[in-house]
This record gives sequence, C-alpha cells and structure tokens, in this order.
Amino acid sequence: MLKLDSLFDLKGKVAIVTGGGDGIGKGSCEILARAGAYIVVSDLTIEKAQAVADEIVKDGGKAIAVACNVLKDEDLVALVDAAVKEYGTVNILVNNAGGGGGGRENPFKVDLAYFERIFNFNVFSAWRLCQLTVPLMAKSGYGSIINITSMGSINKSPNMSAYAASKAALNHMAANLAFDFGPMGVRINNVGPGATRTHALETVLTPEIEAKMLEHTPIKRLGTVEDITGAVLYFAAPVSAWVSGQVLFVNGGGVQTLD
Ligand SMILES: NC(=O)c1ccc[n+]([C@@H]2O[C@H](COP(=O)([O-])OP(=O)(O)OC[C@H]3O[C@@H](n4cnc5c(N)ncnc54)[C@H](O)[C@@H]3O)[C@@H](O)[C@H]2O)c1
Repeated sequence: MLKLDSLFDLKGKVAIVTGGGDGIGKGSCEILARAGAYIVVSDLTIEKAQAVADEIVKDGGKAIAVACNVLKDEDLVALVDAAVKEYGTVNILVNNAGGGGGGRENPFKVDLAYFERIFNFNVFSAWRLCQLTVPLMAKSGYGSIINITSMGSINKSPNMSAYAASKAALNHMAANLAFDFGPMGVRINNVGPGATRTHALETVLTPEIEAKMLEHTPIKRLGTVEDITGAVLYFAAPVSAWVSGQVLFVNGGGVQTLD
C-alpha cells in the first residue's frame, strides 16, 4: 500500500509557477517546495520572483527566479528554457498569472484591445506554456498542469464579461486538453478560488462588497492563500493521479458574486 507521504511527495519534480511573486502564486511556490519540488518562481520583475525564491532556499528548498511577463511570447519561451537549463525538465506547471474583471468591465467603456489583452492574460499564455512544457513532461514520465481559474467562470455578474468569459474559456480549454495530454501521461486541472485575500482582491474590496460576498458564503469568511494552495498541491501530487480535466472550486462552500 502506498504510504500517505508518498501520495503528496514531489521530491525532485520541477515546478514552474507564473505570477509566483505574490498571492496565490507565491503560496503555490511555497507549498510545492515544502512537498519537495524544485521551483521556478516567475513574475513580472526579477526582484519579486527572487524574494520568493530566496525564502524557499532559506527554508531548505530549491528554487530559482526568472522574470517573465506572460503576455510576451519570448518571455514564456525563455522561462521554460531557464527551467530546463537549471533542472533538466519541467513536471508541474501552475498557470497562475491572470486577472481582469473586478466589476470594472463596462462593455461600453472597454475596447477590443482590452478584451484581447484579458484573453491573452488568462487563456493564451496558459495554452502556450502547455504547448512548451507538455513534451518535456511526457518525456520525463510525470506531468501535471494546474490553471488558476475563478468563480467568475461560472458566476454571472455585471461589468465582468471579459474576465468571466476568459476564465470560462480556461475551464473548457483544460477539459479539452485533458484529452490531448492524457495519453501522454500529463494531467491538467483547474483550481477556482472564491474571494481570497490577496493584493489583487484588495483593489476591489470594500466593507460593503465583503459583506455581500459573505452573504453567499456558508463558511463565513473570505479565503486565504493557504485555502487555495491545498488544492494546487492536490492536483500537482500523485494523490490525484487519475484526475484530469476537472475544476475544483475552493470558495467556502458558496457562490460569491460582486453584484
Ligand atoms: N484573489 C482572488 O480573490 C481570486 C479569485 C479568483 C481568481 N483569482 C485568480 O488567481 C490568480 C492570482 O491572483 P492573486 O489574487 O493571487 O493576485 P496577486 O495580485 O496577489 O498576485 C498576482 C501576481 O502576478 C503577477 N503578475 C501580474 N501581471 C503579470 C504578468 N503579465 N505576467 C506575469 N506575472 C504577472 C503580479 O506581479 C503578482 O505577483 C489570478 O489568475 C486571478 O484571476 C484570484
């Protein structure tokens, strides 16, 4: 019988995390490192990524930092190259960098360029990193991709159409890619946070909005980064070996809306 520890053991597995310098990305780097993975922390600036990598190394883990803006294809290629140069392969990919929404997407005030940018951010960058890493994962014999989606992917709210549509696309993309990657030994799943206390959330949170969110939340508090990263670890680790194409919403049991 497999030992409980081995079900969550990522010793020596190589994990790339985008937007790893803060919030859910930073928490993902930390929990995967604690499970033994070698981390490639990437963020917009090298300083932000390096600070997280330094903490991991200080705690006895292995990590390098890479500057990567997921909106730039040359950065995505360089990110994967850096992982291969340092560790020889990639086994785990956390497509965390993303955003938009926040009730600020009045359809008559945003333009096409905005809509395209949100899709580049939340969908195309994740797809491209899959394209770049899955052959490496397949060759290595272990591969798991985790996309960070959102409750917005299933909620209906005003002024959220670009973000919500892009996160819904991310869900359906993963469900379809599970068929492409499964025969190659690579899994792909999405984690959908409810409102989680990070810097991104703070930009839209008011006491009124928080009270409204809690009305829809059976467990009467907002989420923490640690609430979300437990699900990231689950999908990254051997414990979920027969799980692919799924979305796990981690949301205090409810459906949170900004309306
Ligand atoms: N916090 C929430 O309530 C919540 C809810 C649902 C979904 N999400 C999703 O979780 C993910 C992370 O959000 P968060 O709340 O942790 O955000 P955050 O702002 O705390 O952290 C995001 C990180 O991504 C980096 N980043 C921004 N633009 C980038 C780019 N172009 N390329 C690379 N990195 C970039 C930032 O520098 C930052 O370090 C996003 O995909 C978001 O849509 C968050």
